Amino acid sequence: EAAEKGGYPHFALKEIHEQPEALRRALLGRIQDGQLHLSELDALRQSGALDSIQRIIIIACGTSYHAGLLAKYAIEKWARIPVETITASEFRYCDPIIGPETLCVAVTQSGETLDTLVGIRQAREHGAPVIAITNVVASAITRLSDAVLYLQAGPEICVVATKTFVTSVATLYLLGLYLGQLRGHIAQEQVSELLTAMERLPDQIQHILDHADSSDDELQSLAKRMAKVSSMMFIGRGVGFPTALEGALKLKEISYIHAEGFPAGELKHGSIALLDPDTPLFAIATTSHIYEKVVSNIQEVRARDAQVLVVATEGDEKIKQHADHVLYVPDTQEILSPLLASIPLQLFAYYVAVARGCNVDQPRNLAKSVTVE
Ligand code: G6P
Repeated sequence: EAAEKGGYPHFALKEIHEQPEALRRALLGRIQDGQLHLSELDALRQSGALDSIQRIIIIACGTSYHAGLLAKYAIEKWARIPVETITASEFRYCDPIIGPETLCVAVTQSGETLDTLVGIRQAREHGAPVIAITNVVASAITRLSDAVLYLQAGPEICVVATKTFVTSVATLYLLGLYLGQLRGHIAQEQVSELLTAMERLPDQIQHILDHADSSDDELQSLAKRMAKVSSMMFIGRGVGFPTALEGALKLKEISYIHAEGFPAGELKHGSIALLDPDTPLFAIATTSHIYEKVVSNIQEVRARDAQVLVVATEGDEKIKQHADHVLYVPDTQEILSPLLASIPLQLFAYYVAVARGCNVDQPRNLAKSVTVE
């Protein structure tokens, strides 16, 4: 097993470090000379099924659900098709209004999550076309779908998802660009710009990892301090919101610290009552059109004496005056920022869990794929 871990103490850390390569593979063959190629969708497109799509439902669980939440921002922006992202366990019992004009997208890294499979079966019965996004070749979801986009992330052993999250988001974004082009809602020039920015992400993730490796003590001493807390909050706006949810989920899953993610603007409607000096807050404050709003939310939090940790964009020195600790990520397009901001959050959860002596690769009560209801 030590050999399989490739010199890393845990699969979690190995897989976090494999993300640049996993993302490169996810994009491989799909971006060529600034053009998008998703030949896996050709048959579905030629059947005409995509022409009449009026809405999209993304069905997923756990980390895949968070990837699906991010996809809503991207697909609606690029294709102007309304998107609803719903957890599979809710979808299957909510008597959903679906038919041939509703494209259903199942996101499941394992391809075996029972709730997602049942939801998709239901969607098919209503005549909805189905696209599966999964990492496992020939998994159950692939047999229920009209088209499959594989993550091509390589095997993920650790129970908690890291590289399958990043590759799910990237693959969903490619789907969004594909639909945007099909609908004629996005100019080729904008597609090329986004694809170029996406192609830079693996190197940018590598940069974050290299920095964390060379300043291990910084992240580890922060993690050691945070290892003693019993609760943490994560906030973000726009695409920073699902990023916050995923940051909270990672921390819960592997360190067993209670953590919750919120839209930053929602904090004041209840959850702010929980803040005190013993409840640190992580804010996603990377460059965005609503950056100033996030900063003002951080100020509200600091007024309650809560410690504030921030993920920010390199070069943002101003944020330091609002934070007790800043973790920097490189600059990219706002919509792509979760693919970078998630990396320090994964590392943070990992080091907190290690400091608490948790079983990082096999957290209690969790399974890699949940094949029961
Ligand atoms: C389990 C795993 C999570 C995962 C979720 C959905 O709960 O522990 O890490 O996000 O299932 O899995 P899927 O394979 O459908 O993406």
